[in-house]
Amino acid sequence: MAFREYKIGSRVFGLALGGSMCITLFFPSFNMREAVSTEIALDKQLTTGWDAGWNLSDPFMQGSNKPVRVWLESEGQYAYVYPAGTRMPNAVQHPDNLGAIVEKLSMEKGQLAKAAEKGRSNPDGAVFLIDIDQDSKQPYIEYATATRGWNAADVLNAAADENVQHIGAGKSMFVREGCWWCHTLLPEQTQDWQVFGAPPMLGDFNGESPTAFGSDRKGPDLLHVGSRNASREWMMLHFFNPRLVQPHSIMPRFDYLWGSVDADGQKIDFDKWRADYTAYRAGQSPVPPDVPVPAKDSKARALIDFVLSLK
Ligand code: HEC
Repeated sequence: MAFREYKIGSRVFGLALGGSMCITLFFPSFNMREAVSTEIALDKQLTTGWDAGWNLSDPFMQGSNKPVRVWLESEGQYAYVYPAGTRMPNAVQHPDNLGAIVEKLSMEKGQLAKAAEKGRSNPDGAVFLIDIDQDSKQPYIEYATATRGWNAADVLNAAADENVQHIGAGKSMFVREGCWWCHTLLPEQTQDWQVFGAPPMLGDFNGESPTAFGSDRKGPDLLHVGSRNASREWMMLHFFNPRLVQPHSIMPRFDYLWGSVDADGQKIDFDKWRADYTAYRAGQSPVPPDVPVPAKDSKARALIDFVLSLK
């Protein structure tokens, strides 16, 4: 009697083990590289550059050596500017990660191979654009330094500050500050759609490093947060102290990302600010103290640029 159960048990066990072995053997044979980059993927990899996580060109995660995205009013499109010494994006070294069609277009029409000749350390600076091929409707990367003779320093100097976005440095802050402990960048294939917007597609991730999906939510998903709330001022107040705009928020304040001076070069007196804020919370003052505008090169500015780019 007992022997029969033993036989059934061992067969079920064999089936489960065999099944999991098949998954182990066959799953890696899906070629992820067959995913073709979408325009979103190209934008993400060109804005964040080689790597927005820990890497040797930014060992202390200061957001240094990152590209910037510049809005070109005359062209009606973005340029991705890599100042001299900023490591080239992933697609330059590994164009096959773009997916076959986008790789071909970027190589032929976009002259991407010429960027690879410069070496990944990028001694002269580089400017990239994203174009759409009229026939195939596929996006591709144009190496504008070769195709149009654009120089990184010139494009940067010609741009007004409000058209320059430090998204790459901001993503480093997102990773460094652990925003992903509380926020996902991944609306799920459930009712999540109705609240947080469309989930991403496979091709949205080509060349992105790191992805920063997050795994746990204590706050809202942020993949499309810039579409729900495009107010730079709200973001500024919320990062300085979330309780200014959401009285019961559990989000920590990130005021230290402001550094020591504000946009006018004035020293920020954090002790005074907190004393005034405490007085406001205690009802001794009708309004909270003003939040300093972050300096151009502050980490707070970069983080806000990144968050507002999440459309
Ligand atoms: C301890 C968890 C926690 C951490 C860490 C955290 N947040 Fe939040 N965040 C929240 C919660 C909860 C909310 C909702 C309440 C609020 O708006 O403050 C929120 C709201 C937000 C919103 C507004 C979302 C919307 O839908 O309008 C943004 C933007 C945001 N957080 C960005 C960040 C960024 C960027 C970081 C990292 C620098 C971060 N958060 C770190 C918990 C967190």
